[in-house]
Amino acid sequence: MAALIDGKAMAQQLIDEVKGGVTEFSQRYGSVPGLAVVLVGDDPASQVYVRNKVKRAHEVGMTSIEHQLPDDCSQHTLNQLIAELNADPAVHGILVQLPLPAQLNEKEIIAAIAAEKDVDSFHPLNVGALVTAEANLVPCTPLGCLMMLRQVCDDLSGKHAVVIGRSNIVGKPMAALLLQENCTVTTVHSHSRDIEQICQQADIVIAAVGRPELIKSHWIKPGAVVIDVGINAVVQDQTRKLVGDVDFADVEPVASAITPVPGGVGPMTIACLMKNTLTAAEALHAGQPNKLAS
Ligand code: GUN
Repeated sequence: MAALIDGKAMAQQLIDEVKGGVTEFSQRYGSVPGLAVVLVGDDPASQVYVRNKVKRAHEVGMTSIEHQLPDDCSQHTLNQLIAELNADPAVHGILVQLPLPAQLNEKEIIAAIAAEKDVDSFHPLNVGALVTAEANLVPCTPLGCLMMLRQVCDDLSGKHAVVIGRSNIVGKPMAALLLQENCTVTTVHSHSRDIEQICQQADIVIAAVGRPELIKSHWIKPGAVVIDVGINAVVQDQTRKLVGDVDFADVEPVASAITPVPGGVGPMTIACLMKNTLTAAEALHAGQPNKLAS
């Protein structure tokens, strides 16, 4: 039976650490870090994510303001809000919840966020910094996955990691982070051939495809570590529930360690967002917002 990687408990520990960091920050600077969260439209899943982010920010002692814009919001209106938040010294972190409605240019919006306040780390400058292993801010979900991997793997060096999915939010930055950890990294995606056979060779599988319970036990090498990023709402036995991209019941007996859904990667993503907001606030107050960590 696989060891369960308890994302909820790990996230709480990280939240407690960030809370301590916020207290120190306020003693040093006489203010607290501020996180601005922007939600455009009324997508129910995005509303839940944003509510949880704001709630967690308050819990760690930060200020957090949710900016809600209507579904038909123009590029100009959103750009203007971003410009205001960029210029606001009380705002240290800016997050625009994705996906955005079709009329908005996502790339342009992300690039408009001041890189030093980009707590998602989606800005092209931050993407470049991640690839060259110079990032101060690391995308929240991949960072959470890496922390969970470190919990169960003493040494990631030389391990074969297969990342399933190539999104800008998870798959690509995850692959870059694992490469930085000296893993041998393979990314598979919808156009890849022989995906199951490639996964069977993996010491580490990161599933981030958004397909409910796609990954079965015969994809997994016995003893592999499986990290499930998927959060898919499905109806089973007339009950609505959340499942991952991994068929948990099928894979658990084969893996050496596995994350559950819910209670795995999800809580870690939000905890890492809090960590990034504190990191951004510290860098901004140190007057060296562009200084990158070694
Ligand atoms: N939508 C799904 N995941 C994320 C995330 O990590 N950040 C933002 N901004 N939007 C998302």
